[in-house]
Amino acid sequence: MADNRESPLKINKDEFRKIGYQLVDTISNFMDTIDEKPVTTGETPRQIQKILGNDSLPEQGTSVSELFSKTSDLLLNHSLLNGHPKFFGYITSSPTPIGALADLLASVVNPNVGANILSPMATAIEKQTVKWLAEFIGIAPSSGGILVSGGNMANLTAFLAARTAKAPKSLKEDGLGNIESEMVFYCSKATHTWIEKAAVLFGHGLKAIRWIPTNADNKMNTEILSQTIYDDLKNGKKPFLVIGNAGDVSTGVVDNLSAIATICKANDLWFHVDGAYGIPAAVIPQYKELFNGIEEADSIALDPHKWLYAPLEAGCTLVKNPQHLIDTYSAHPVYYNFSSNDEEPTLNYYEYGLQNSRGFRALKVWMALQQVGKNGYIEMIGENIALSQMLFEEAKKHSELEAVTQNLSITTLRYVPADYMHDGKDGETYLNTLNESLLNELQKGGEVFLSNAVISDKYCLRACIVNFRTSRKDIQEVVEIIVREGRKVHKALLRK
Ligand SMILES: Cc1ncc(COP(=O)(O)O)c(C=O)c1O
Repeated sequence: MADNRESPLKINKDEFRKIGYQLVDTISNFMDTIDEKPVTTGETPRQIQKILGNDSLPEQGTSVSELFSKTSDLLLNHSLLNGHPKFFGYITSSPTPIGALADLLASVVNPNVGANILSPMATAIEKQTVKWLAEFIGIAPSSGGILVSGGNMANLTAFLAARTAKAPKSLKEDGLGNIESEMVFYCSKATHTWIEKAAVLFGHGLKAIRWIPTNADNKMNTEILSQTIYDDLKNGKKPFLVIGNAGDVSTGVVDNLSAIATICKANDLWFHVDGAYGIPAAVIPQYKELFNGIEEADSIALDPHKWLYAPLEAGCTLVKNPQHLIDTYSAHPVYYNFSSNDEEPTLNYYEYGLQNSRGFRALKVWMALQQVGKNGYIEMIGENIALSQMLFEEAKKHSELEAVTQNLSITTLRYVPADYMHDGKDGETYLNTLNESLLNELQKGGEVFLSNAVISDKYCLRACIVNFRTSRKDIQEVVEIIVREGRKVHKALLRK
């Protein structure tokens, strides 16, 4: 081996600069013209596979410049573009351009943010990001937390902390099977499916979930919550956790969080808020009141990769008392030399969550928060809400659309043909078929991307606007597209 090792993975300085500049040129052109592209090409998995090819594992290397030009084409011309101004599907935001650059910088330094000694500056930046996120939504800056991959992980991380805090101390040694009373937990029917994952994977079973019905406004019925807790206690169960939604996944409804907090306090239960989607709206002064009660929460899930527009992946678990995370996740094997002898306690993020080696997710969030400040977010989140309200009003005005719900930045609506007479159950079944087919057409068509929600048995089109590129013109055009395509699908169904 030569003294100056020429490893095959090394890229020399000049080549790196050249390829890097070319890539940045390609990316900036792409971002600048993203609104002229289709939201998706609608290519089938088979077509995509054909474009990708089916080469076997290469034995020899390829030139980096060639690789980048091929890969840029694959990704920029054959992807669904959630950065497109007419992408309103599920809850995935347009990614911040600064986040893309931050990810590049983070990869180059490659700090392992599991331990402070391996990532001194990155750990400090993550700590500051968590503090800023707490401040952003108006909870105590003394709260702690950790960046995770997204909403599922943020909620699961909190779930386990709740269990450690409220279970008998013997849980760690003896396991769930040896706990005297069955541990049960409460959430509304509108709760995201992560709760089922938690019940199954963490050994409680689906029967431990108490699905609390919602009122007509889709908020958890807190009277039924109180009664169910009372009944469980009477029957020898061990209630330990209640989950409130701060923007439910389908319609964006925020539960009555302060009422849930009071019930939790009275029964010594952990209060968790799933604000993965909606809680950033608490930054807007007019919406603050809607989130009253979050300051009482023991834990909160908040996803920067949703309404803070961070590129995937970035979720966050916030906890009122970080010691609960340490109690749940910390371990001290002999091969870790991560504690310092300084007077100051060392912050090692491996003790705060499920991961050990961890990437530097916080950087893209931290940089975007500084690029636009709190006021920039107030403006963008407020605009998203206003655009969603505009879509709802436009649907209400249109004779072929039915506006169904509007909360935060989620609007649901459905297409109802002009000549259509509601005639009971069969009519509703037809409208459901029509709207489902319409959604499939719209998703393939590439002009707009919506998802769906089923509300009181109605199959609805659902637009969730967490997009800093969307304008009023896009909303007007989307209404025209829905109606135009709705007519086509209706005609086609009638012909059948
Ligand atoms: C309220 C809520 N919680 C949790 C999640 C799960 O988030 P993720 O897909 O990032 O895991 C979602 C996703 O839409 C959500 O809306």
